[in-house]
Amino acid sequence: MDFKRILELRRSIRKYAPRAVERETLEAVLRAALKAPSSRNSHSTHLRVVTDPETIARIARMRDYGSAFLEKAPAVVLVEGDREATDLWRENAAIVATTLLLAATDAGLAACWVHVHGRPCLREEPQGAGAEEYLRSFLPIPEQRGVLCAVAVGYSDFEPAPLPPFDAAERIHWPEE
Ligand SMILES: Cc1cc2nc3c(=O)[nH]c(=O)nc-3n(C[C@H](O)[C@H](O)[C@H](O)COP(=O)(O)O)c2cc1C
Repeated sequence: MDFKRILELRRSIRKYAPRAVERETLEAVLRAALKAPSSRNSHSTHLRVVTDPETIARIARMRDYGSAFLEKAPAVVLVEGDREATDLWRENAAIVATTLLLAATDAGLAACWVHVHGRPCLREEPQGAGAEEYLRSFLPIPEQRGVLCAVAVGYSDFEPAPLPPFDAAERIHWPEE
């Protein structure tokens, strides 16, 4: 797909058709995402695929805000970063996650980023238990890896509206301005 078209089509999709994502399709998307640049070529990002509905339902309960929709996702990809490989593991993981969203769009899939790192389980208890520790309680995430986010992946259940317009010119600052 034309790159500009991918940028236009990409939306955060939170409702999915009851259809599994083929393993080869997802594998190709994940391999594309891992081509993203990384600090000093450290390739510190790891992608953990979860397709078991019960485990996905547990992941969906990691926060009491903004993660419940994950329950109906056919696949969830945890974006993890090796903290021992580089101090920029979050940045590296964010670029992989972003590339994953674009590659998913290119493959005709729908996806949505759900943040994990630094997010509390309960919105009203910002200093309380965190979503990342909750995930560690039932997933085999190595100690040296941080979890930046979960990306839900599926096929869209509807035709998403185009991106709402916003003024890009207000955010571009040329020297003469
Ligand atoms: C860093 C980051 C964190 C996000 N966290 C969540 C989240 O926890 N839950 C959620 O439903 N969407 C989350 N999103 C998706 C945004 O809400 C979404 O990108 C934004 O509303 C713009 O919509 P669009 O992606 O369709 O353009 C996140 C996106 C980013 C980039």
